[in-house]
Amino acid sequence: MKKETSRREAALQPSIAVELGGIKLKNPVVAASGTFGYGSEYEGFIDPAELGAVSVKGTTLEPRPGNPPRRICETASGMLNSIGLENPGIEVFLRDYLPGLNSRGVVVLANIAGNSVEEYARMASLINDSTGVAGIEMNISCPNVKQGGLQFGTDPDMVYQVVKAVREQTTLPVIPKLSPNVSDIVAIARAAQAAGADALSMINTLMGMAVDIKNRRPVLGNIFGGLSGPAIKPVALRMVYQVYKEVDLPILAGGGIINGNDALEFIMVGATAVSIGTGIFLNPFLGRDIVQGILRYMKENGLKNLEQIRGVAVD
Ligand SMILES: Cc1cc2nc3c(=O)[nH]c(=O)nc-3n(C[C@H](O)[C@H](O)[C@H](O)COP(=O)(O)O)c2cc1C
Repeated sequence: MKKETSRREAALQPSIAVELGGIKLKNPVVAASGTFGYGSEYEGFIDPAELGAVSVKGTTLEPRPGNPPRRICETASGMLNSIGLENPGIEVFLRDYLPGLNSRGVVVLANIAGNSVEEYARMASLINDSTGVAGIEMNISCPNVKQGGLQFGTDPDMVYQVVKAVREQTTLPVIPKLSPNVSDIVAIARAAQAAGADALSMINTLMGMAVDIKNRRPVLGNIFGGLSGPAIKPVALRMVYQVYKEVDLPILAGGGIINGNDALEFIMVGATAVSIGTGIFLNPFLGRDIVQGILRYMKENGLKNLEQIRGVAVD
């Protein structure tokens, strides 16, 4: 009798599993790159396998020491960071960190960043030759040193070239992560699609700065940093809306999500999955809370799956 009831309850439970460019996620909540380390940083708080996926700390071909301090500062409804991609390099990631995540059953998105098209392509090839990565998220908010330092993600031609080069090196899903520091986000998304992207991730941080009036200098050692957190949510929602309307690719969307309702807003403007970054610093249980918040909304509104509300706010 008890078994029968729990089977019936399970059948009534809404489904929050989603598919992002060929990657099956048990729920739509993904830890954003650079805010969840390699997952073990939250040991004792949350099992990273509870999340739909974890986009790990950004990886470069060679190890990087990162930017000079100060690297982080709090702002109104957000924060600035200029970490500068401090990381041990791709070989160490694949050898020392990936197996641990895999043994825990975490769906891993590798997040790659480079100085040149060749560096991105080389990393895609190394990841493709190893096992345990579900998809490649490309951080294209990086300067192309061969093109005068212009950021890849700000120019449709460069986006096309770098995404195509990665596409040619891997059979894994390729997910370019769009920079919001552009005037025409749809043109950038179209270039990524034309080059063979399987999904889009958006948005990365907005460029900003802060000034310390005591010593009359910029707060961050790097002067500029990336703004994240609730302050950027309206911008992120607007950009996801625009891209969902014009480009037929699944979107991993985020920017300022701190609760289930925020996540639902992103789904209603077209997101297939949502990413949580700065919000995890406020609440290490955020991933779990959002899953519960989405489920509660679905039950209250008689929804069976997320397709029923995906993009409903888009005209
Ligand atoms: C401290 C910090 C480090 C980050 N590092 C990376 C990174 O290595 N690669 C990347 O693609 N995005 C990185 N990001 C951007 C986040 O993944 C995310 O896209 C952004 O913060 C917006 O989401 P949020 O408002 O939920 O934090 C970083 C953000 C923060 C705050």
